[in-house]
Amino acid sequence: MLTIQEITEAYKNKIDFLDLEILIANSLKKTREFVLTHPEYKLTKFQISNFKFQINRRLKGEPIAYILGHKEFYGLDFIVNKHTLVPRPETELLVELVLNEISNFQFPISNLGIVDIGTGSGNIIISIAHAIQHGAWSMKQKNTTTFLASDISKEALTIAKKNARLNGVDKKIKFLHGDLLKPFLKAKKLMPNKLIITANLPYLSKDIYESAPIDVKKFEPKSALYSPEEGLQHYRELLEQIKKLSVISHQSSVILFLEFSPEQKILLAKLIKSIFPKTKPEFKKDLAGKWRVCKVTIHTSPSPYQRRD
Ligand SMILES: C[S@@+](CC[C@H](N)C(=O)[O-])C[C@H]1O[C@@H](n2cnc3c(N)ncnc32)[C@H](O)[C@@H]1O
Repeated sequence: MLTIQEITEAYKNKIDFLDLEILIANSLKKTREFVLTHPEYKLTKFQISNFKFQINRRLKGEPIAYILGHKEFYGLDFIVNKHTLVPRPETELLVELVLNEISNFQFPISNLGIVDIGTGSGNIIISIAHAIQHGAWSMKQKNTTTFLASDISKEALTIAKKNARLNGVDKKIKFLHGDLLKPFLKAKKLMPNKLIITANLPYLSKDIYESAPIDVKKFEPKSALYSPEEGLQHYRELLEQIKKLSVISHQSSVILFLEFSPEQKILLAKLIKSIFPKTKPEFKKDLAGKWRVCKVTIHTSPSPYQRRD
């Protein structure tokens, strides 16, 4: 029988210390505080074999979130597996910006639609829906907002639906399978007065994907990360779909929030201007000071003769 202290000594130079604490705690089904304060605790045979199974996965580079089976994002818990990207802390900026946008509305919007494209584990749309349901400031939009999300991966959508249930917003969000906006257009689900679209689509260029760490390349789905055309093919296609949408539907405006990789700022701005020449893309930095989210407001009009974009 080994104690927590003996296990820590044996592995502390092999993996990150925080990961080690987390995996010991997970094998014992106890908190990290317990691990820190009980070095003398003796693990049972079952706990040791459980720990060894987990640590071997980590030593092979598997992300800790896949080993634990969940990840915290925007204060909520999300189930993750090999079909979903592990939600990144920098994506919280996108959630924050959408919530700020809504809280700054001068008057409540009678029919607001929020659509998350490439929802993965559902982290973005679930965090937004949860905040709107529970945040005092957003009471005004509580019953007048429709939440929609799409993903091309059916497996990811299965996880997203579980996460919606886990966080108590499954009755609020409609998940559809398909390519970008297409499933909503087919199902004629996009007729709100105002539309907010969020997208954290695959945006790694070939070079950046190739140089990504093993944790990412070997374990996270390539279809969630890589995009041709310098990482911008998915965004080009999305913008083109929105352009069609703005001609055929009745939205007064579409506000788009896109997450991107810092070095794509100039290319992304050019792409947006080439499709929507009259828009002024706004760029926001994440907490690490890197360009991360682009906001674009696209004004649409009911008739093609009055179109502004
Ligand atoms: C970078 S991951 C982001 C996942 C999640 N939104 C997040 O923030 O962690 C991109 C997601 O887009 C999905 N995806 C890729 N191509 C797509 C497409 N053409 N239409 C819809 N979703 C797509 C992938 O399956 C993946 O779940």
